[in-house]
Amino acid sequence: MGSILETFDLCKTYELGEIEIEVLKDVNLTINQGEFVSLMGPSGSGKSTLLYLLGGLDKPTSGKVRLKGRELSAMKDKEESKIRRREIGFVFQFYNLVPNLNLEENIMLPILLDGKKLKNYRSRLDEILELVGLTERRKHTPRELSGGQQQRVAIARALVNEPDLILADEPTGNLDSKTSTEIMELFKKINQEKGKTIVQVTHSAEAAKYGTRLLNVKDGRVWE
Ligand SMILES: Nc1ncnc2c1ncn2[C@@H]1O[C@H](COP(=O)(O)OP(=O)(O)O)[C@@H](O)[C@H]1O
Ligand SMILES: [Mg+2]
Repeated sequence: MGSILETFDLCKTYELGEIEIEVLKDVNLTINQGEFVSLMGPSGSGKSTLLYLLGGLDKPTSGKVRLKGRELSAMKDKEESKIRRREIGFVFQFYNLVPNLNLEENIMLPILLDGKKLKNYRSRLDEILELVGLTERRKHTPRELSGGQQQRVAIARALVNEPDLILADEPTGNLDSKTSTEIMELFKKINQEKGKTIVQVTHSAEAAKYGTRLLNVKDGRVWE
């Protein structure tokens, strides 16, 4: 299958006053459609930085990221954010749900932000609620849910625009091991049955095993 993400000599340097921190050095990667990639590495090695660059949430210091052949940093901000919203689903460690919206409203937020009519997406919402196993909880607010359930809502929200690519930054980092396994099983299903490409950052060797490919981030480089 073809590539979905490619990086070319990707570099990221942060400047802290006089000091320059070279976080990523000439990273060249290709991720193919349908892969489930696990990114591992020591804390502070640049895993989140890499994931954010892959998803256009941050800009490289130099080098390029291409999503399905289109260079992200060459796009206008508005175009890039539209692509991000429609073609990439993000999942974070702390779920990033809106506390005073119920579960359905949280899931539908990307549809609303895209200026689309909610009523056209009712059946899709039902399907996604079924997939993540939260149909009965649809009117609850995040604070009424467990951590694992909140992460399921975040995964549902990441799927609602039917992106081909899911980027997840330590999605089980805040969960116990049983719940982590359930979340990883859900990602596996989304990869295998829905054909989504997944890139996850993880600290857990258990979680990394769910991937079809393991990449290590260390000293600014990425190793197979
Ligand atoms: N916005 C920022 N400004 C300055 N330094 C940053 C910023 N974001 C990350 N860093 C630094 O870049 C390095 C990599 O961070 P990060 O990508 O978050 O690592 P990881 O996710 O692997 O723990 C760390 O040294 C961190 O302190
Ligand atoms: Mg991180």
